[in-house]
Amino acid sequence: MKKIVVLSGAGISAESGISTFRDAGGLWENHRIEEVATYEAWERDHELVLKFYNQRRKQLLEVKPNAGHYSLVKLEEKFDVQIITQNVDDLHERAGSKNVLHLHGELRKVRSTADPNLVYKLDSWELNKGDLCEKGSQLRPHIVWFGEAVPMIVPAAKISSEADIFIVVGTSMLVYPAAGLIDYVPVKSPKYLVDPNAREIRHISNLTVIPEKAGTGLVKLVDELLAN
Ligand code: APR
Repeated sequence: MKKIVVLSGAGISAESGISTFRDAGGLWENHRIEEVATYEAWERDHELVLKFYNQRRKQLLEVKPNAGHYSLVKLEEKFDVQIITQNVDDLHERAGSKNVLHLHGELRKVRSTADPNLVYKLDSWELNKGDLCEKGSQLRPHIVWFGEAVPMIVPAAKISSEADIFIVVGTSMLVYPAAGLIDYVPVKSPKYLVDPNAREIRHISNLTVIPEKAGTGLVKLVDELLAN
């Protein structure tokens, strides 16, 4: 079975009603996203950061996977599909995709501030100041904030290096190290970029740009790959 690796970003969830980072102007309640999604912000004001992620989690309960997410599930009929997502939502999983690696963490999970290995699934949408891990330390969102290390980049690079086909969908390819994963893909492997505002990404060989939304462009690409 050929291996298809998909690198997804905020754009694949846009048609579900979750606004992308850069399309939303990078603002939340007059705060720049960089002012809430950093470790410095957390140190300065736990409550502000918790409120931001509580809102994101609450919104997640109100949205559903879209045709783009479902098309990737269909791809598993004929391919070994591995998704690497920068998204912290769980829409790939809820659509039914089997192999999903989250590069930037997961909204539905929280972790201890004392021991990063203590990760918990949150049942409700709310995490508050005073919610503690089993060691008595404050719980924080299980999110990779700006300026923090991206531990999953190591397995993600290995997976990318094994891709027979690489699909990039709904990401501005501006945020590293995620955007650099395409450099690990073998030169001979076909690469596709699905994004309505797609621009050429540096000098990447074997790249086909599909300047469409995931709901149309990705669905068509998947149908073509399954038909061949
Ligand atoms: N289908 C496909 N792509 C779309 C759609 C759609 N319906 N709507 C918008 N897009 C594209 C935009 O054109 C843009 O190129 O999705 C991309 C979203 O880019 P960003 O907002 O930069 O999101 P992303 O690339 O996922 O951001 C990377 O940055 O803010 C941090 O950690 C955060 O994971 C995030 C990372």
